[in-house]
Amino acid sequence: MKTEQNNEMSRRSFLKRTILTGTAICVTPTLEKVTAAERAIAGKSSTSVTTFPASMAAVRMQRTLGSGKAAFTVSAMGYGCMGLNHNRSQYPSKDKEIALVREAVERGVTLFDTAESYGYHINEKLVGEALKGYTDRVFVSSKFGHKFVNGVQVKTEEDSTPANIRHVCENSLRNLGVETLGMFYQHRIDPNTPIEIVAETCSELIKEGKILHWGMCEVNTETIRRAHKVCPVTAIQSEYHFMHRAVEENGILALCEELGIGFVPYSPLNRGFLGGMINEYTQFDTTNDNRQTLPRFQPEAIRANYRIVEVLNAFGRTRGITPAQVTLAWLMNKKPFIVPIPGTTKLSHLEENLRTCDIVFSAEEMTELEKAVAAIPVIGSRYDALQESKIQK
Ligand SMILES: NC(=O)c1ccc[n+]([C@@H]2O[C@H](COP(=O)([O-])OP(=O)(O)OC[C@H]3O[C@@H](n4cnc5c(N)ncnc54)[C@H](OP(=O)(O)O)[C@@H]3O)[C@@H](O)[C@H]2O)c1
Repeated sequence: MKTEQNNEMSRRSFLKRTILTGTAICVTPTLEKVTAAERAIAGKSSTSVTTFPASMAAVRMQRTLGSGKAAFTVSAMGYGCMGLNHNRSQYPSKDKEIALVREAVERGVTLFDTAESYGYHINEKLVGEALKGYTDRVFVSSKFGHKFVNGVQVKTEEDSTPANIRHVCENSLRNLGVETLGMFYQHRIDPNTPIEIVAETCSELIKEGKILHWGMCEVNTETIRRAHKVCPVTAIQSEYHFMHRAVEENGILALCEELGIGFVPYSPLNRGFLGGMINEYTQFDTTNDNRQTLPRFQPEAIRANYRIVEVLNAFGRTRGITPAQVTLAWLMNKKPFIVPIPGTTKLSHLEENLRTCDIVFSAEEMTELEKAVAAIPVIGSRYDALQESKIQK
């Protein structure tokens, strides 16, 4: 295992340079002639300053999701914002969470992930408040496609009609306080709206400067090929971690590589489980945590699956890294076009996760890890039957 270190530069001079770069961009008269999308990209050029003191937990590298016109360069690790106030039990006060998100910005994170459906606008509004004044330096991705009636999700249906995509986009822009979304993902496939129509609508939103790029979650290879022909896809966001490696088996990762599409693994720590702080006695908040409904988070499954955490512990112990770091580093070492988006409510975990970006595993270490984890059967399915039925096979 090697650790990559970059040149040192004080935090103060980093901030000064960032501000100066931003100012220079604002006064350039040629900007008047560019589209909203181009303006958004130009405004983000300050993010190329990625040097931090060696002692600071930060993202020092960027990765590019997608290729050609769809290329989107972001911090090598993003921030999954959902758990800040939705589906991950207790969370700190709003002030503390806003401070945490801003700390992530100061540590080089430029990709923040949310969705319309996370508390129906509640998560987007928090992210918008946290990033107020920072949106010239970072990108926010949001998602459309679930069906809501009067703010309540109709769980048996999806809605990717052009009218709904546009409606969700306007809401997301307003909630987040941005002119342009960095990424706009289809959250789940809508069997009643052909993917070509979805891709065409996203293409129009790109031309209008409302989104920079687009992607899809949990779709199959055929859908990706069809969509990519209409409007080049920047990233696929699907579940991927040691306990759910479907994208290796169903051809998604290989297709992303073939077509030059990025991959964003969601729930990269398996909803916290692979961080090692959940056990059979963990009580999930009955009003704000979907894990209590998932087969893999029932006490017997947790007890059996804890053997996987023990493998990560054993591997990490001799290298001085934690199970969460082993998990995230494995994902990042797997492919250079992978950008994980772990979520956290704690500065200590944010620092731990960001330090992963400096960890390099050898090919032998990757094989050793995979072999050890694969020897343990995973107990319990990841979703219940209704949620699993929304996943394209
Ligand atoms: N596209 C989709 O369908 C989809 C579905 C689900 C999620 N997502 C996206 O993926 C993001 C992340 O997913 P997620 O929140 O489900 O799962 P996750 O990132 O795998 O896990 C989050 C949980 O891990 C814990 N954690 C974080 N760092 C840790 C560390 N170093 N050690 C131990 N525990 C740690 C957090 O608790 P603490 O707060 O205590 O750190 C939190 O409860 C979401 O925010 C969302 O943006 C997308």
